[in-house]
Amino acid sequence: MKVAVFGTKPYDQHWLENVNAEQGQPHQLSFFEPRLTLTNLPLINSHDAVCVFVNDVVNAPVLQALHERGVKVVALRCAGFNNVDLDTAKRLGIAVVRVPAYSPFAVAEHTVGLILALNRKIHRAFNRVREGNFEINSLIGFDLHGKTIGVMGTGRIGAVFAKIMLGFGCRILAHDPQPNPELEQLGVRYVSWDELCAESRIISMHCPLTPQTHHIVSHDAIDRMPDGVMLINTSRGALVDSRALIAALKSGKLGSVALDVYEEEADVFFEDLSDRVLQDDVLARLLSFPNVLITSHQAFFTEEAMQQIAETTLANLTACEQNQPIADNTLT
Ligand code: NAI
Repeated sequence: MKVAVFGTKPYDQHWLENVNAEQGQPHQLSFFEPRLTLTNLPLINSHDAVCVFVNDVVNAPVLQALHERGVKVVALRCAGFNNVDLDTAKRLGIAVVRVPAYSPFAVAEHTVGLILALNRKIHRAFNRVREGNFEINSLIGFDLHGKTIGVMGTGRIGAVFAKIMLGFGCRILAHDPQPNPELEQLGVRYVSWDELCAESRIISMHCPLTPQTHHIVSHDAIDRMPDGVMLINTSRGALVDSRALIAALKSGKLGSVALDVYEEEADVFFEDLSDRVLQDDVLARLLSFPNVLITSHQAFFTEEAMQQIAETTLANLTACEQNQPIADNTLT
């Protein structure tokens, strides 16, 4: 297949080209740096498929334009698909495929890394020591052992995360419309979202972004949380109302926050903006808090995950070419 790869970073090109070569070059890949948007559509030149990531725009007008250019497949090289208008794709006969599972360990382990860094203030200690300041004032944390962790969504990633935290000696409360019996056997207790908010010392978000979960971490939800709670979001930015977050950080209701995703991340994350003035005032405010740790959507970014993403993306394209959709990977 002729595939236009949008939003290409050097690592995307490296892994996709390597795996395509390993498989005997089944696909002809063109790499484009810009994200897929209406404006960037002229880059498509008799391609059969586009390959996109989390922040590409795949809404109805873009899908209509892709259809008019003869594109038959949208291959997401990620799990989340909230940026794709699936109804329009289906109506236009465009196949949408994704990578539903790739190293849940990558995201779960990054989540644990954020908790440890935030709790023990490792990010601040690193800077202090490099400046020759060896004081430990205000770097105090708390033992994770015995604390209650709330896990919102216990699918592939949430389940791995819950098991790691059980290993720390934590008590796990979870909320998920589809409870995982294996976790229940390990002692995880499923409760309502309200109870999870009320009882947890740390809350970690691992559910998908849907109309039901949009801004589920709202002013009201934060009000129900204990004072000083730690909130972690490595799932999708818009699960959290960023303005509510700022208000709760200012009042001290939220003790600390770590984000690997942010609701307006599309124009910022994955880019080097170090010599520009940050235009997003909400993000700038979040970055100003000493008890907020932000990473730029890198939780997935391990060698194992990149290899699996490339393998599944290319297998998805081959399956589409041969009209043999892979059930779990096909959205339309
Ligand atoms: P998954 O599909 O295996 O699990 C999602 C779980 O959420 C399911 O058990 C589902 O029943 C549950 N769920 C659905 N609606 C819910 C609700 N209203 N309340 C509570 N739980 C609900 O997905 P997986 O692989 O575990 O990924 C989770 C999320 O992590 C993805 O949706 C994606 O947005 C995010 N992600 C982030 C990455 C990063 O680099 N930061 C990388 C990969 C995924």
